[in-house]
Amino acid sequence: MNAFDKIIGYEQVKNELMQIADVLKNADAYNKLGVAAPRGLLLHGKPGVGKSLMSAALIEASGRQAFVCRKDKPNGDFVKEIRDTFKRAKETAPSVVFLDDMDKFANGDDRHPDAEEYVTVQSCIDSVKGKDVFVLATANKTRCLPESLLRAGRFDRVIRIKAPRGQDAVQIIAHYIEKKKFMGDVDPVIVAQMMEGRSCAELETVINEAGLYAGFERSEVITMDHFMRACLHAVHNIPLEKLVMDPAETDLNNSQDQRALVIYHEAGHAAIAEALFPGSVTLVSAFSRDGENGGFTSRCHTVGDEETRMSVYGDIYISLGGLAATEQHFGVVDLGSSEDLDRAFDRVTDLIGENAVCGFHLHNFGFKNSQDNLREREKTAAVELERLFRRTKEILAANRDLLDAIAKGLAEKGVLTAADIARIKEESGVTSRLPLAV
Ligand SMILES: Nc1ncnc2c1ncn2[C@@H]1O[C@H](COP(=O)(O)OP(=O)(O)O)[C@@H](O)[C@H]1O
Ligand SMILES: [Mg+2]
Repeated sequence: MNAFDKIIGYEQVKNELMQIADVLKNADAYNKLGVAAPRGLLLHGKPGVGKSLMSAALIEASGRQAFVCRKDKPNGDFVKEIRDTFKRAKETAPSVVFLDDMDKFANGDDRHPDAEEYVTVQSCIDSVKGKDVFVLATANKTRCLPESLLRAGRFDRVIRIKAPRGQDAVQIIAHYIEKKKFMGDVDPVIVAQMMEGRSCAELETVINEAGLYAGFERSEVITMDHFMRACLHAVHNIPLEKLVMDPAETDLNNSQDQRALVIYHEAGHAAIAEALFPGSVTLVSAFSRDGENGGFTSRCHTVGDEETRMSVYGDIYISLGGLAATEQHFGVVDLGSSEDLDRAFDRVTDLIGENAVCGFHLHNFGFKNSQDNLREREKTAAVELERLFRRTKEILAANRDLLDAIAKGLAEKGVLTAADIARIKEESGVTSRLPLAV
């Protein structure tokens, strides 16, 4: 088995690591060509994305002895440990020094560029120059590290590891699912959509938590329902007791019914999102993340990464969709929309300041951000928002049957997944319609 086989997905990163491992293992072949081996590699990214796993694979594939340095001692002793680690690595060269979670070497999460630990690491790296010691490090936040440490010649290669996306996420989930007794109805693609942007460690935790629920119920297999509850609880922080609750009777035509308002609000976000980007909604919940009143709607962004006119305006229409739906359905003002409005307002203000969508006179040229200008920009943003809100209502009116079908489904189940939305669309025969060029 290849050392890199444990890493699922991440083909591009793996290729780069394999190449480095090859240089470390077969240094002679490269020396003959007169090329210098890279001296150091820094892997950085959110916690749980696989930095330590990838480092272990690289070390194994390099065939070199590694000297690991992780902060688990008070400061004074730790500086000494850093020095000792490099000293031993130098004596045993060719070797690897592995500085795991290097951004934790100095205290706290803040920037400490002058911290003794970093100064020590830097001088140690310089002291092993030309001694065939490869320095491998991981960090969650590079902003905590001094710039001088990151310059080429110290860490020649810097690779950012992102949370798994698309096919990578599907493959990792399929791998975790394979190891457990999951029922056939658990679809890795849907799980990946619901967990978009989450680290491998979070994926692992949620899948395991689903298993715990199944075990507690003495169920023979883990089902999609267990997974859903685990995801809503562990990722979205929804209290478990809410999730086992029988769906409350809700009168969807009663504006005094708080749950009905929440349901139409979320259905509004979801209907606009589905109208503009069919298949993008991953989760609609009539439960809020903090146990308070309200719900939330998530959608996946994997469809296209770059910002387009459609994605920017789409985001604004979707934000306004909750407010538009409650107004259209109940004819009342929605008191739960202030966050949505803030978000939409910020996006519009950015468009005005950065993209001059309302004229150059309000564009953020950098030199004329006078108070007057800022005030004018805010006023214009409010007017523009008004126009976009009218368009949101037009989109919603054209998709009225979709809105009602989603609201009905949400009232019944409390939570809808991408699969539920697809089923609702199919059963009710509704299709999304775009009434205008957006
Ligand atoms: N690409 C991957 N394939 C399979 N498992 C992974 C992958 N990335 C991370 N993991 C698993 O996720 C967990 C967290 O990974 P870890 O390397 O400790 O993350 P980090 O060092 O970035 O905090 C580990 O159990 C690890 O095995
Ligand atoms: Mg780690």
